[in-house]
Amino acid sequence: MNKSPCTISIPISDILLDETIYPRDRIDQRRVGIFAENIRDGFPFDPIIVQAHPEKSGKYRLLDGAHRWSAYKAAGIEKVQAIIMDLDGTDPLLYAAKRAIGPRQLSEEETRNTARRAFQNNPRLSSSAIGKAIGRARQTVDSYIADLRAAVQMEIDVKIFRMHRLGIPQARIAKRLGQVRETIRDHLAEMLMTANPPNTDLSRGFTVSQVAEKHGWTEPMVWSLALEGKGDLTRFKMLNWGLRTWDFWGWNDCDRRFGDDWPGRIPAQLIAHILYYFSKQNDLVFDPMAGGGVTPDTCLAFNRRCWSLDMMDRPDTRPETEPYYWDIQGKGVEDLAFLNAKDKPDLIIFDPPYFDKKAKAYSKKSISKLPRQEYLKFFADFFAFMKRYAKETTTLAFIIADWRNFQNKPAADEVPEDAISIADYLNILHETGWRHTHIIQAPMSSERFEAGVVSAMQKKKILGVTSRYVIILKPHTGK
Ligand SMILES: C[S@@+](CC[C@H](N)C(=O)[O-])C[C@H]1O[C@@H](n2cnc3c(N)ncnc32)[C@H](O)[C@@H]1O
Repeated sequence: MNKSPCTISIPISDILLDETIYPRDRIDQRRVGIFAENIRDGFPFDPIIVQAHPEKSGKYRLLDGAHRWSAYKAAGIEKVQAIIMDLDGTDPLLYAAKRAIGPRQLSEEETRNTARRAFQNNPRLSSSAIGKAIGRARQTVDSYIADLRAAVQMEIDVKIFRMHRLGIPQARIAKRLGQVRETIRDHLAEMLMTANPPNTDLSRGFTVSQVAEKHGWTEPMVWSLALEGKGDLTRFKMLNWGLRTWDFWGWNDCDRRFGDDWPGRIPAQLIAHILYYFSKQNDLVFDPMAGGGVTPDTCLAFNRRCWSLDMMDRPDTRPETEPYYWDIQGKGVEDLAFLNAKDKPDLIIFDPPYFDKKAKAYSKKSISKLPRQEYLKFFADFFAFMKRYAKETTTLAFIIADWRNFQNKPAADEVPEDAISIADYLNILHETGWRHTHIIQAPMSSERFEAGVVSAMQKKKILGVTSRYVIILKPHTGK
């Protein structure tokens, strides 16, 4: 913390009271009235304490002096003396509470609430750190926050359980969840207990969605318990998914139980078919751009291990998808230690953002924003890298659609330079050491087009794209 903060004069209108870091229940208006009178009589007060507002530029939020601040306003004072603090990581609510203890003790209720709010804001705060700020013993704080701590613990348990079930090594789970490795080891030792309550409810005949809701688990996690020990065909049946026998996999919609609402989300049934035909239970699946998490979710239901990455980091809802930005031409990928580890994937499922399409929906740095040549170069580098990462028996399932600039042009006027077709991708794949074994049609639903749009397209002879393919490939071994 900055030890020598300066006192300056600030317009009172730039200072805001932020309820989320105010430790008292309410401002005592009687006290404000007395202070306002003292101010009018010229009685000098200590400067109030503020910090730069974290969300509103040019504004400050109060850390100490809410009664003086209210009194200045009541007395019509426009500028006040204030000390601007740089808390340098100290929890602002606890700082405010510590300041509040001196002049007028916080009530028991306020102290308890402050401890609870501080812990909710930052579950990593220790009881003794909270205790020191609010003037209570560690044990007292423990009793204030026992239920909150148990809930946080349960959330961590569920995350560890999910990541462990997907075969993510302990060291990576620890890093991802900000825990020490021993904690993960201890949790794993009690893993069976974590699964006991949902398992009991399943055996009592509750449905998967009821159990998920009751225990705060995701549905795919409950499916992973409910389907334990079952073969893949039974899993298809119990999930109510018909199994396609031919190389045409079409569905009208995504199964909302798997993956999040995400731009470019693919149906879990599609992933399940890739898993069924091209992997076996316990295999390691790798998804380098996992987005809304359909692949890890489906892997849970089909008992596959799964490592997944995405540039979008969502540690709370998708702890299993580790944050990673593929910058093939830039800094390289050597910092991803596990890519050099002995454990190589049996199956890589790669569902990249399509060129230009949905470019607005993804983050600014997504490859979908690259110009055509750079986009294609990304794929050449990426597939060459995947080839080095794969083992001889690895299968690559590449989900891709033709990209044509069909929106503005009659079909007969389209030119090849404006398009990226499946043939372009196949050329790149062959040049980077991959050989395809299957090209499976898995069309996108055309139901998303409105009748008016369809009729306009027909009149202008515009030929839309709904084709999508799953290209299955093996590394070229030179044999
Ligand atoms: C088509 S989406 C994947 C959707 C996913 N299969 C699903 O069903 O939810 C492609 C993902 O690639 C990610 N992405 C784009 N460029 C990336 C890059 N250079 N490195 C890492 N992720 C990237 C985007 O954030 C997006 O989530």
